[in-house]
Amino acid sequence: MNDFELKNKTILVTGASSGLGKQCAITISRYGGSLIITGRNEQRLKETLDLLKGNEHKMIAADLTSEEETARLAGQLPALNGVLYSTGISDLNPARFITKETIEKTFRISFEASVLLTSKLLAGKKLKKNDCSLVFISSISTRYPFVGGAMYISAKAALEGYARVLALELAPKRIRSNCIAPAFVKTPMLDDTAENYSEEAVKKIEEQQLLGLGEPEDVANTAVFFLSDASRWITATNLILGGG
Ligand SMILES: NC(=O)c1ccc[n+]([C@@H]2O[C@H](COP(=O)([O-])OP(=O)(O)OC[C@H]3O[C@@H](n4cnc5c(N)ncnc54)[C@H](OP(=O)(O)O)[C@@H]3O)[C@@H](O)[C@H]2O)c1
Repeated sequence: MNDFELKNKTILVTGASSGLGKQCAITISRYGGSLIITGRNEQRLKETLDLLKGNEHKMIAADLTSEEETARLAGQLPALNGVLYSTGISDLNPARFITKETIEKTFRISFEASVLLTSKLLAGKKLKKNDCSLVFISSISTRYPFVGGAMYISAKAALEGYARVLALELAPKRIRSNCIAPAFVKTPMLDDTAENYSEEAVKKIEEQQLLGLGEPEDVANTAVFFLSDASRWITATNLILGGG
């Protein structure tokens, strides 16, 4: 078996009903991984499930802002060799419009959901010792911020800090923790940006990115590397995709 394959690995993908999570699940299945995919929307999750290669995959719908649903999901999982965390929302507000509600909304899904799920996975001993990789999708915007992104970027920065501490705490068990920080990628999240701002704003973003807009496959291929044994000596890192 080559080190880049994911055969004999069971991987949970959150946010698998759309965008990057969906493509990561599809690509992981092509590399031989067995998947449990989650998200809230059952119909879109089923669409992802139908696109996976092989048939030993499962979907479990759950709202990860609900502690009960997170506990139910964690309780149904087998021991895992990896988790790809792709839940997130892009609720952009100029600083003067930030309220307690906007802070809570963004942090609940883009930060807390992944943190509390991980707590449950650790408490339930669902992460395999000696063979487990946790991969969080952050964003290049923690290094190269954009106007209106204060809460989105703050939640991602918090996630990056969390992932590094996790790497320290879990290294003795040989459980790795890394972030992938993509520039803008063509997903429904970017369509929302085009709708809420303008096509010109997206065009400007594209021009600013060294390698232009990314495709979901560009993130998925990187995720496969981080989930595979090919990256077994990499932890506590944050890889920027798409150029600075
Ligand atoms: N697209 C980009 O340009 C880009 C760039 C850098 C980083 N990222 C990050 O990559 C991740 C994925 O982004 P994307 O572009 O794929 O966005 P997306 O297409 O909007 O997907 C977001 C996913 O999060 C899930 N989700 C949202 N709220 C949830 C909740 N309460 N419980 C469970 N799942 C929930 C959604 O599933 P349901 O609706 O089914 O719940 C969906 O599957 C995000 O963290 C984003 O910040 C994206």
